[in-house]
Amino acid sequence: MDDNIAPDSLPLSSSVDSVILNRKTVKVMATEQPEIIINAGQIAAFDQMVNEAIEVAGWAPFHYDRKLDSIAEPWRFTVLFHQQSRQVAKQFFNWFQDVKPSNKIPKMLTACGALILVNWLPESVGVSNKTVQVNEEHLAAAAAATQNLLLALESRGLGTYWSSGGQLGSKEFFHRMSIDAEEKLIAAIFVNYPGMMNLDSIETAEGKNRLKRSHWTKWTRIID
Ligand SMILES: Cc1cc2nc3c(=O)[nH]c(=O)nc-3n(C[C@H](O)[C@H](O)[C@H](O)COP(=O)(O)O)c2cc1C
Repeated sequence: MDDNIAPDSLPLSSSVDSVILNRKTVKVMATEQPEIIINAGQIAAFDQMVNEAIEVAGWAPFHYDRKLDSIAEPWRFTVLFHQQSRQVAKQFFNWFQDVKPSNKIPKMLTACGALILVNWLPESVGVSNKTVQVNEEHLAAAAAATQNLLLALESRGLGTYWSSGGQLGSKEFFHRMSIDAEEKLIAAIFVNYPGMMNLDSIETAEGKNRLKRSHWTKWTRIID
């Protein structure tokens, strides 16, 4: 990492800045079948925070009315809270038999408080330049909603990891979850509920690109 880009070297001008700079990936993986050590009321409170964060995330900008099912937004969110994601973890290697046993997705599905899939909705009519541009902007809007989601979860004290999702983005998985086959996965967000499990039954890892960031002047041109 370049010198002088660590978050604590920046003057923070708003609470938004501090949420952006404090967000960091935490991958949480179950090393065994972990016992949940927080009570049902605490889990319900975290589940409620997830719902609130999704509502907030939906205030992302979007350019084109997708006009699908009378909904303008070009994204769809699918939530599996802990019990459901754990069920998927149990079935994972049955459903996807060509996946290596070392695949980490089942471990993350077992450990997470919630899995949130963020999909975007491509326009399938024609391949004109206009359609390509519209689709790029649908995808961009869904990415903005995804980052909003990470920040809204961070501000509530919940940990996150944005994964491409692997098999969770497959047509087979969509079919099992009753998700339209035309949708495309942009993010599988694993949400960690603090203190949910005994630390002995989980391992954690940072995001691998975390330390590769460069100083903003390296990727910014100022035209004068
Ligand atoms: C669209 C997208 C997909 C990603 N998919 C993966 C992934 O499948 N596996 C992975 O290790 N990191 C993935 N990452 C990167 C991590 O989520 C993380 O952001 C990165 O390692 C930087 O760490 P930080 O979030 O702590 O800054 C993805 C990021 C984005 C934006």
